[in-house]
Formats: sequence, structure tokens, C-alpha cells
Amino acid sequence: MADAILVTGGAGYIGSHIVAELARAGYRPIVVDNFCNSSPSALPRLSRIAAQEIRCVTADVRDQAALSRVFAGHAIAAVVHCAGLKSVSEGEAQPALYYDNNVGGAIALVDAMAAAGVKRLVFSSSAAVYGQPDRNPVTESAPLRPQSVYGRTKRIVEQLLEDVAASDRSWRIALLRYFNPAGAHASAAIGEAPSGIPNNLVPLLADVAAERRAEIAVYGNDWPTPDGTGVRDYIHVMDLAAGHVAALAYLASTPGVIALNLGTGRGYSVLELIAAFERACGRAIPRRFAPRRPGDVAAYYADPSRAEAVLGVRAHRDIDAICADAWRWRLNRVDD
Ligand code: NAD
Ligand code: UD1
Repeated sequence: MADAILVTGGAGYIGSHIVAELARAGYRPIVVDNFCNSSPSALPRLSRIAAQEIRCVTADVRDQAALSRVFAGHAIAAVVHCAGLKSVSEGEAQPALYYDNNVGGAIALVDAMAAAGVKRLVFSSSAAVYGQPDRNPVTESAPLRPQSVYGRTKRIVEQLLEDVAASDRSWRIALLRYFNPAGAHASAAIGEAPSGIPNNLVPLLADVAAERRAEIAVYGNDWPTPDGTGVRDYIHVMDLAAGHVAALAYLASTPGVIALNLGTGRGYSVLELIAAFERACGRAIPRRFAPRRPGDVAAYYADPSRAEAVLGVRAHRDIDAICADAWRWRLNRVDD
């Protein structure tokens, strides 16, 4: 029987792509989600592309008793912990909510895992743990100076997991620091479907291209970058998902805790991304320059070499594939 892998937040954007990739790799993913930022309607679509019935338990990860029932009911080999709140602006406005959900959720999960004797964990961390980097590309040994509530919740969970691994050498934990995930599954059956107004550039561009939004506001054209707009490392969500499958395999034979960047090593500016999206959708994307967004930084991109060496995977889908898949998903989306 295939190993069962619990994916918390598995109905969400990144989690659903990880579920699809786990199924493709021969695992049996099981989802726990409370649908606070996703919809149960993703599950039948996910089951279809996974070519297996994806089981889903509706529960909050802070509910340790509910998690313990999931562990008791299924022979779970490992956990991928994606459940969490991810909006930087919402985190600044509601810090207690973010600490409770992100840190409280991780504590309840670790306790439930320890009680069930399941000690292999992949955690969805973020490049937000670095804050403003001193230099690019950003390596895992760069200073950790998160500048937002959201980033601090991610770093606190990393510290919790480092301490858990130090307390008991049988834990195997990967802290995967995502740069800017974007794009969608090639089937266009799943993708990013935020409950409210999107925060991130690619779903906003898709909304403009689909004429759901009049224009894109480019936050600043006076950054110290080649064209004056912000530079980020956009990684295709399927390359990101493949990194999780590889991390689970790596942890099967390696105890301890490891932090790994998941990015491409290449930065693109906002204007370059707009041009790529225009190529993908065949339409002009109206844009206007707006003031810098508070909390933004000029440029950051990953040094992905440690992840490539340790996991043996490299992000190979480029910016055109990201935009083409995001656009196909935008056209196919029915749940809005
Ligand atoms: P998402 O909001 O689409 O997915 C998160 C999922 O977790 C949702 O389905 C939501 O309903 C669920 N969830 C949230 N709190 C929960 C709780 N307490 N109990 C049960 N389920 C809960 O977000 P995403 O983009 O898929 O992000 C997944 C993870 O990756 C998050 O932890 C996020 O912080 C991290 N991350 C995301 C990005 C990004 O750009 N998307 C970047 C870096 C890190
Ligand atoms: C943001 C978060 C980061 C989080 C990530 C994924 C901030 C400061 N950082 O990253 O912590 O991990 O999302 O959720 O919020 N842009 C525009 N116009 C827009 C939207 C964005 O010009 O309408 C620009 C931004 O200024 C930036 C780039 O596009 O230069 C990417 O922005 P975004 O997709 O929001 O990601 P980050 O800011 O990198």
C-alpha cells in the first residue's frame, strides 16, 4: 500500500499542487483543511487530476484532538504542513490572528505528530524570514530579519521545529523557504483562487487580462533595479511541488532539520513579468505607475544551489510557462 502523506492546507493553492504531485509520485495524500481560504470544490477536480479519490478531513490544524483522530485513522508516514495565513497586510492588521493560526497551528500539529509517532515533516516557510537581504542571491545562511508579522510567524515556527529536532534526534524536518510561487497545474483544473482581492502580482495580472480589473498598479518605478521596478524570483508552483516530493524522499533517509530555498536563482522585474503575461494572453495589459508599497524591497532572488544539491531537483519551468499556465487557469476558473 502506498504511503499516506498528510497535507495540511491541501485544498489551498500550493497544497493542492503538492497533493497532485504526491499522487503522481505514487503516494496517497490525505488533506486536512478548514477552507478559510479555499473551497471544497477544489477536491473533486484534484481527485480527477490525481487519478485517485483524495480524502479530505475538514478540521482546523489548531484542533489537536481532530488531528490526533486523523493520525489514529490512517497510517500516516509524513506530513507536509501548508496550512496557514499568508497575507502580509492582513498580518500587520491582525497580528494575534496570525500568531494564533500560524504558530498555534504548528504547535498543535507537532504535538499530535509526536503523540502518533510520526516524525517526518516538511514545512511551508517563506523567503519572508530573510526580510531585506544584504545581497543577492540569498543563501540559507543569510541573516534572518523578518520585517512583517507574517514573516515573524514563519521564523518562529522554524525555530520551534529546530528546537523540536534538537530535543529528539528521530525527527526529520525540512524548512522550505519559498520565493514567489506562481503559475498553475498544466491541466488548468487547479490554481490560485484567493477568497478576496488577490495580493500577489501574477493573479492580479490575470484579473486585468480577464478584464476583471481595469489596470495593474506598478508599485514604484524608482527602485535601484535595471528598469526601476521591483525584482523577484518567480518559481512555478509545479516545480515547487516537486521540491516537496523530493524533500520527503530526502528525509526518509536523513534525520535532523534542514532549511532550503525554493526559487529559480533568476530575478524578473514587474515590467518583465507584465511583458511575459502579455505574450501569454495575447492582450495588452494596462498599467500605471503608483507609489512604492510599504514594506516592499527592491530586489531579491534565491540561491537555489543547496536545494538542488540536496534534493536533486531544479526548477525548470520558465516565466513564460508560469504566465501561460496562470492564464489558462484564469480562463478555466469557475468558482468566482
Ligand atoms: P492558501 O491560502 O491558498 O492555502 C492555505 C490553506 O490552508 C487554505 O486552503 C486554507 O483554507 C488552509 N488553512 C489556513 N489556516 C488553517 C487552519 N488553521 N486549519 C486548517 N486549514 C487552514 O495559501 P498558499 O499560497 O497555498 O500557501 C500555503 C503555505 O505556503 C502557507 O503556509 C503560506 O504561508 C506559505 N507560503 C506561500 C507563499 C505564496 O506566495 N503563496 C509564499 C511563501 C510561503
Ligand atoms: C509578498 C510578501 C511576501 C510573501 C509573498 C507571497 C510583501 C512585502 N511580501 O511578496 O512576504 O511571502 O508575497 O505571499 O508583501 N507588485 C506591483 N503591483 C501589484 C502587486 C505587486 O507592482 O499590484 C509588485 C511588488 O511591488 C513586487 C512584485 O510585484 O515588486 C511582487 O509582489 P507580490 O506578488 O505581492 O510578492 P512579494 O511582495 O515579493
